[in-house]
Amino acid sequence: MATAQNLVILMFTTTLLLANCDPQVPCYFIFGDSLMDNGNNNHLLTQAKVNFPPYGIDFPDGPTGRFNNGRNTSDVIAQLLGFDKFIPPFAIAKGGEILTGVNYASGAAGIRAETAKHLGGRISMDNQIKNHWTTIIRLTYLIGKGSLVETKKYLKKCIYTVGMGNNDYINNYFLPKYYNTSSVYTPEQYAEALVEQYSRQLQELYKSGARMFGVFAAGDSGCTPGMMAEFGMNSCVDEVNSAVMLFNSRLNMTLNDLNNRFDDAKFILIEGSREYPNDINVTDTPCCGGSSTSDKGQCAPNQVPCSNRQNYYFWDAFHPTERINVIAGKRAYEKLTSFEAFRTIALSKDKETGYISVA
Ligand SMILES: *[C@@H]1O[C@H](CO)[C@@H](O)[C@H](O)[C@H]1NC(C)=O
Ligand SMILES: *[C@@H]1O[C@H](CO)[C@@H](O)[C@H](O)[C@H]1NC(C)=O
Ligand SMILES: *[C@@H]1O[C@H](CO)[C@@H](O)[C@H](O)[C@H]1NC(C)=O
Ligand SMILES: *[C@@H]1O[C@H](CO)[C@@H](O)[C@H](O)[C@H]1NC(C)=O
Repeated sequence: MATAQNLVILMFTTTLLLANCDPQVPCYFIFGDSLMDNGNNNHLLTQAKVNFPPYGIDFPDGPTGRFNNGRNTSDVIAQLLGFDKFIPPFAIAKGGEILTGVNYASGAAGIRAETAKHLGGRISMDNQIKNHWTTIIRLTYLIGKGSLVETKKYLKKCIYTVGMGNNDYINNYFLPKYYNTSSVYTPEQYAEALVEQYSRQLQELYKSGARMFGVFAAGDSGCTPGMMAEFGMNSCVDEVNSAVMLFNSRLNMTLNDLNNRFDDAKFILIEGSREYPNDINVTDTPCCGGSSTSDKGQCAPNQVPCSNRQNYYFWDAFHPTERINVIAGKRAYEKLTSFEAFRTIALSKDKETGYISVA
């Protein structure tokens, strides 16, 4: 079954890759808590940026604030979509740069506004959507001749990826010291409440013109070295992973529901995977930094990381290595290629909806 699916996906991928010249979509918008960074929700995300070595050791520009040794998942997706530059963060995107999309993702962000508030600054999903409206207003002047209707025609052609939920578990539900959600909700009720709120947020994006949504399932946060240390365990924390599983299965149902309700939009669930090449054989110890909560699992400035980074799943106690991000990014991209079929149908209904090329 999986093989047949993969074949179809591969065929789409090949078509898109061959058609490569201009990016396959004119624009790519990124919402999230740092997208597929399984456990990006580490306690240090909102502390000083990790713009010091050895972070970025395998990145051409060195340390840039990315929470690993190289590219992150959204970087990889942007490259596979054919963009020649990475999508700029909202905080620094200027002028025409926003035409190809904006990255709103914020490390500690959650679906719920209060998530990770004990850490200080973070941009919740609601605030990321507000920032997107700011971008849309700027776009109406750049390309829409002041018209929101015109601007939305452009936005329809963009891919949106959204990856939220991790922090609502790690920096909320499983942190009873700061948050009471676990005494208010059972895991089932919490998953339901979260997904309900998430669904409203996705519909808000739909109203703003988004049509092609790749939505990341939450990661197995219970398997990050940082979380295992927090629970004093040597193996994955099942309690955490099963709560997250409830969230993912509700999310899947809700996306199916949204697909039925909005036939001019497509919502795709992008699931994680625990299947990796055999030589990624160090999965419980980070390449850099300890896993204990006392040092918060962060790689310290100028600490010497492992040299065989190819063999490691985790860069620090919460963030995967670039190698994992590349694999996850490719998988996500393969999923996103199913927008190709959607586009064909949409095109036959509405010439404006074609998503390839912008000129
Ligand atoms: C991933 O990279 C993008 C730049 O392409 C950046 O805006 C974003 O903050 C990064 N996320 C993490 C968790 O490093
Ligand atoms: C939980 O905390 C919120 C504030 O964060 C408060 O409004 C609410 O009353 C609390 N609920 C319970 C059952 O303690
Ligand atoms: C998501 O829902 C669809 C339709 O009900 C189902 O076929 C698919 O297996 C589900 N996927 C997951 C990961 O639950
Ligand atoms: C992991 O794989 C590499 C290369 O395939 C090998 O050299 C190394 O000994 C392995 N490490 C462990 C912990 O198995």
